[in-house]
Amino acid sequence: MCDSAIAGGESLGLKVDWSGINPYLAFTRPWTFSPISMTQEYKEPSHGVLPKRVEAKEALRFPPGVPQTEPIHLSGAWIMESTEQADALLGGAVPGFVYRRDGHPNAASLADALRIMHGADQAMVTAQGMSSISIAAMSLLKPGDRVLLGQPLYGRTSFFIKNDLGRWGIQFEDVDVTDYDAWKSALEKPARMVILETITNPRMSVPDIESICKLIHQAHGPAIAESGPVVMVDNTFATPALCQPLALGADLVVESLSKFVCGHADAMLGLLCGRNEIWGRMRQTMVSFGMTSSPLDCWLTHRGLASLNVRMAHAAASANELAHAIAGHPRVQAIDYPGLADHPDHQIAKKQFNGSFGNMLSIHLKGGLSSAQRFITAVADDIPFCPTLGEAQTTLSHPMSTSHRSYSPELLQSLGISGGTLRFSIGLEPTSSLIGKFLNGLNHCDD
Ligand SMILES: Cc1ncc(COP(=O)(O)O)c(C=O)c1O
Repeated sequence: MCDSAIAGGESLGLKVDWSGINPYLAFTRPWTFSPISMTQEYKEPSHGVLPKRVEAKEALRFPPGVPQTEPIHLSGAWIMESTEQADALLGGAVPGFVYRRDGHPNAASLADALRIMHGADQAMVTAQGMSSISIAAMSLLKPGDRVLLGQPLYGRTSFFIKNDLGRWGIQFEDVDVTDYDAWKSALEKPARMVILETITNPRMSVPDIESICKLIHQAHGPAIAESGPVVMVDNTFATPALCQPLALGADLVVESLSKFVCGHADAMLGLLCGRNEIWGRMRQTMVSFGMTSSPLDCWLTHRGLASLNVRMAHAAASANELAHAIAGHPRVQAIDYPGLADHPDHQIAKKQFNGSFGNMLSIHLKGGLSSAQRFITAVADDIPFCPTLGEAQTTLSHPMSTSHRSYSPELLQSLGISGGTLRFSIGLEPTSSLIGKFLNGLNHCDD
């Protein structure tokens, strides 16, 4: 017999004959036990799982005021008052929530904040960046449709279109994202969707979004839900702090909010936003495929969003100073940072990002793979090697062994990615200490 079980039972006002009763079950689920003899009338316990939930519900009904900070709504479902209300909520006649997969308050408020920042008609927060890309493609494409992929793209985006949707009869073609003539010739045949990134990984190329959108829509007309070329821009590296692609003529914007918008490497979410004309069945697709966001991740990301502009301003200024400080270093063959005047897309970036150039940069080490390995080891305590970006702490990645590991040697060579290429996401450390860490890493490399 368990002493704590007896104490628990008696504190609930019960006199219990414990013989033959499993004390664990009796303590954790007292209401399921009938074979107990009581020397006084049974009273509903005032504490325990069931009453606590009732109390919490009452507290929600009597809010004493508006909380300064948005609550995290972890509820899986909402209680409806009548069949009429259910019909109105589920039919969309009145705003509100019914079941978390369909939508929840934390997603709605975050989506609205991002919708305003992007100047979009519609916005939706989804489980991950890949969910947003998948939802857009599965809502708009049908077998036989052609997709133009502005390369280089995030590897999983390419893989999804080519391998997953390729199996369902979607056609695709790679186009060099900054080659205007290549876009012209790819557009000689109609395309239903065009995907490109604002800043590409890891060479930090910056396509002229406005000119590409003009070219596409002049060639094949505007996009609507059922036809026309939809230009979808993945704005993950830029964030709305640097660029709002809808204002440049794009139809849809996707972002991995897991990166700079969240900013603290503790949430995974995606954004999908765009114009009314092509929104169509986006929400239905998210709900059917179960790609709804988590309330906690929305809450964390909404908190991150509040400081996005100042974080980006600091990180971008730091990246710019760092790029200039190490340009010409004898152990560095080249630096990819659009803020450097000799970067091929410097002028476009200057115009498109209002004078900022973002926090992402890559360096190509003269000493190749062995120098990259030595750099990684030398800075490991300060600049962790992890395949993500956009955090408070500066991080590094080695594209050849991580994000681009599926690329053939020929493709890697044509993209200018080698064993000596390192990609950095610059964080919020003081710039001078960051420059010191880079110089320390470079001291361990070969000439
Ligand atoms: C440019 C870009 N787009 C999309 C994604 C996918 O986002 P998520 O990891 O949130 O699914 C990533 C992830 O790294 C990315 O870098």
